[in-house]
Amino acid sequence: MTFATLTRNVFDIKDLNLWYGEHHALKNINFPIIKKEVTAMIGPSGCGKSTFVKTLNLMINYVSNVKMTGEINFNGHNILNEKLDLVELRKKVGMVFQKGNPFPQSIYDNVAYGPRIHGIKKKKHLDEIVTKSLMNVALWDEVKDRLHAPALGLSGGQQQRLCIARALATKPEVLLMDEPTSALDPISTLKIEELILELKEKYTIVIVTHNMQQASRVSDKTAFFLMGELIELDETSKIFSNPRDERTEGYITGRFG
Ligand SMILES: Nc1ncnc2c1ncn2[C@@H]1O[C@H](COP(=O)(O)OP(=O)(O)O)[C@@H](O)[C@H]1O
Ligand SMILES: [Mg+2]
Repeated sequence: MTFATLTRNVFDIKDLNLWYGEHHALKNINFPIIKKEVTAMIGPSGCGKSTFVKTLNLMINYVSNVKMTGEINFNGHNILNEKLDLVELRKKVGMVFQKGNPFPQSIYDNVAYGPRIHGIKKKKHLDEIVTKSLMNVALWDEVKDRLHAPALGLSGGQQQRLCIARALATKPEVLLMDEPTSALDPISTLKIEELILELKEKYTIVIVTHNMQQASRVSDKTAFFLMGELIELDETSKIFSNPRDERTEGYITGRFG
C-alpha cells in the first residue's frame, strides 16, 4: 500500500464491537472512511447506524453501560486506547443531529458557541467566523439582518443549516450527520443535499439516511448495516446497481426494512 492510500483514510475502524449491557449492537465492524468523501449509512431501524456514528467522536461515552472492543483509528490514533482530549476530538469530528437543535440563544451566539469554548473572544474574529460559517451553509443572506434574533424563530430547514454552521465554526475535519433531513420538507432537504455536495470539497462527511435517493444523490460510498453488522460497503453506484450481498439488494429494492 502506498503512503497516499494510507493517508486517505481519515478513520479506520477495525473489528469494532459494541455492547449496550448484554445487547451486542455492533458486530466486528471494519470500516475505512476516506478523506473528502461522503459516506452514507443505510439500513433498517435499530441496525446500529446511530450507534456507529456516535462512536466516531465518542459521544457514545455519554451512554452508561457501554462496552467496546477493537480499534477506531482517527488520523492514525486509536481513540479507544489513547488518552485524548474529548473536546478537541469533537472539535475535529463535528456532529449534526436529526432535528435541528439550536440552543435557545441568538443566531449569532449559536454559531459563536464552539469558537468561544475554544477561547476565541475578540468580537472581530468571532464576527468573521460567524459570517463565514453562515455563508458556507447558504444561510447568510437569509439571516444577516437578524443575527441577534432567537435561533428558534427560524424555520426547520434554516435551523438545520444553522446547526451545520455551528458545527463548521470550529473547523472540523469530519462532519457526522444522523438523518439530517428526516424532519425537513422536500425543498429544505434539497438545500441540505446541495450543501453536502459543496461541503465535501473541504470535509469528510458521514451521513445516516433512510432515503435511498438521498444516499445515491450525495454519497461516494454507501454502507449497508443489518442487525449490528456491516453487510456491505462499496461505491454508491455499485451498491445501488449491483450489490454483492442479496440482503443489500433486498433492502434497497424495498423487500424488507
Ligand atoms: N442507549 C442505549 N441503551 C441500550 N440499547 C440501545 C441504546 N441505544 C441504542 N440501543 C439499541 O442498539 C440497537 C441499535 O440502535 P441504533 O444505533 O439507534 O440504530 P439505528 O440508528 O440504526 O436505528 C437497537 O437495538 C437499539 O435498541
Ligand atoms: Mg438512528
